[in-house]
Amino acid sequence: MPMARVFSGVQPSGDLTIGNYLGALRHFVVLQHEHECYFCVVDLHALTLPQDPGELRARTEKVAALLLACGLDPARVTLFVQSHVPAHAELCWLFFGLTYLGELSRMTQFKDKARNRKTVTTGLLNYPVLMAADILLYQAGLVPVGDDQKQHLELARDIAVRFNNRFGETFVVPEPMIAKVGARIMSLDDPTRKMSKSETPDSYVALLDPPEVVAAKLARAVTDSGREIRYRPKEKPGISNLLTIYALSAGKTVREAEAEFDGLGYADFKKAVAEAVVETLRPIQARYRELIGSAELRDILREGSRRAADVAAVTLRTVQEKMGILLP
Ligand code: TYM
Repeated sequence: MPMARVFSGVQPSGDLTIGNYLGALRHFVVLQHEHECYFCVVDLHALTLPQDPGELRARTEKVAALLLACGLDPARVTLFVQSHVPAHAELCWLFFGLTYLGELSRMTQFKDKARNRKTVTTGLLNYPVLMAADILLYQAGLVPVGDDQKQHLELARDIAVRFNNRFGETFVVPEPMIAKVGARIMSLDDPTRKMSKSETPDSYVALLDPPEVVAAKLARAVTDSGREIRYRPKEKPGISNLLTIYALSAGKTVREAEAEFDGLGYADFKKAVAEAVVETLRPIQARYRELIGSAELRDILREGSRRAADVAAVTLRTVQEKMGILLP
């Protein structure tokens, strides 16, 4: 059996956070050694909510630089910007005829994002169809993501199966890869909610936060009543979240982290978490500064989109033929 291809995407919709890193990006870095990997800055997904054009352009480059700075090697992976490969939008359109309104309007993330808005665009509704197109274009068998993308992945699987049933075996049905620890890093100021780049800056540590900002944010992080540093996500969501962040940043298990802080106070514990996070971010920030705005970064993205477009074209053509498009 050939090794499964890997695909994953990251939105340039805000600052990347340690949630993105611990839940997804660090897995990308490991997978690149064993799999053929495609990683994509999904700017078209970001456009499903209003964006400032200049900021979106700058953030797209920033996210690409950060993915490389986290350890992706352009000699091993194909890194590219979604809009540079028009086949994503084309396949998405072809999938609209295989996707039901009910299954899109039932998506948890759609309901959350639509809830407090006066108007809701069809972009927000169709978001997971574009995601399915992203994944299936590359015949990816494995999709490393955080827990919040699970439902979207199920739709991608359903579309693949539906297409295969209707038009004959075409798509690999992708499997999500969701880690046991760190797949849902929680917000620092409300540990019952997911850490998210679209919330207030105090709720997350950004990958580019300077050390003193990291320390201040973690010092302010909401903890729980009591004094024990124990991993009990239900009763102690704040402390459990910090233990997870610490363990993953320091390369330890949650149990080892619990034992290490046994008997210590919350303030000392938070200092140790901050130090571990700062040390994790230090090399990432240094490499980011070399890459941002560089010709090297632009060359990597140009080469990435060329390679991605070649693979995507093969799938798109097959789909067009099967669906009855008269090819030019
Ligand atoms: P995005 O940009 O919101 O997040 C990028 C990755 O980070 C994970 N993540 C988290 N993991 C743990 N804890 C958190 N608090 C946390 N916040 C975010 C996300 O699960 C994701 O893996 N729809 C996707 C982008 C996308 C995509 C794709 C992903 C577009 N096409 C195809 C996979 C395959 C998104 O908005 O991720």
